Amino acid sequence: MAIRDTLKKLTEAYGPSGEEENVRSMIRDMLNDQVDQIFEDNLGNLFAIRKGQKLKVMVSAHMDEIGVIVTHIDENGFLRIAPVGGISPRLLIGQRLRFNNELIGTVYHEKLKELKELDWPKIYLDIGADDLETAKKLVKIGDLACLDQPFKEQREGRYLAKAMDDRAGCAILVEVINRLPAELPHEVCFVFSVQEELGLRGAKTAAYRYEPDFGLAVDVTTVGDTPKAATMEVSLGKGPAIKVKDNSVLCHPLIRRFMVDVAEKNKIPFQYEVLTRGGTDAGAIHLSREGVPSGALSIPCRYVHTASEIVDKSDLDYAVLLLEKMLLSSWPQMEEINLR
Ligand code: CO
Ligand code: ZN
Repeated sequence: MAIRDTLKKLTEAYGPSGEEENVRSMIRDMLNDQVDQIFEDNLGNLFAIRKGQKLKVMVSAHMDEIGVIVTHIDENGFLRIAPVGGISPRLLIGQRLRFNNELIGTVYHEKLKELKELDWPKIYLDIGADDLETAKKLVKIGDLACLDQPFKEQREGRYLAKAMDDRAGCAILVEVINRLPAELPHEVCFVFSVQEELGLRGAKTAAYRYEPDFGLAVDVTTVGDTPKAATMEVSLGKGPAIKVKDNSVLCHPLIRRFMVDVAEKNKIPFQYEVLTRGGTDAGAIHLSREGVPSGALSIPCRYVHTASEIVDKSDLDYAVLLLEKMLLSSWPQMEEINLR
């Protein structure tokens, strides 16, 4: 499957944090016989292992997306909702939300004196029910919903969808798995993790179980190339980003240098990323057990955590190439690391 088709399928799937099963079964189907071992853990992380010599590398992309949870149903059948992950109530007005049973609701707000009053207590979800009884047949307290937007190709190679964060990362892993040859220098465990948006929860138990020698997260990052954006070095379409730091991890210098070496050797364009907020699975992996040297490969993405996240195909293609080349190379030796 071309990466565009994988991305379309994965971004349109329902998968807020804790309810990743649709995404997980899609990915399982895509991987089929491409890996030596495939299994799930107690929290729902999907592990896909390619055997190799020597060391163990864990590469993680999260399956979950931001969403909302039903907190109250009123007598007229309107729902009150709360965030699951970093989602802004302002960006939800007029948006459609979808439940796992395909039920669709739209978000609006109570009468406001000032726009700044617009917060979770002031917004509600209309699911087309006229009273409490009808609404209760459709939803329960605690049900989750995600954004409902189709994948679009805005122009050649410019993709627009919900949940690019982090189905773009999942699509890259799937593509790389399909391209890897039979013999690998290191064993690689691809983890499709759960509950990243709630604080890197899935990656934490996954790293504990797998005990990797190295960790790598593949996730989206924000960009600074839009009108009066917050200062940020990364732009769309200038190549994948090699993370230096975010709020969850200082990437290990040896891993970072190794990524740069591989990119330069293969003439792959890249950007350095310093993200002043947010985190990735690398944040959980590098703190596992006695510490795991970790890095992150980031996909530049506009409007992260909105219904219309944008990525560029060339960034995806180069990210696939860089990850593939990294997994075909010898990673920096443990002795070098221990010398630090
Ligand atoms: Co996110
Ligand atoms: Zn993410």
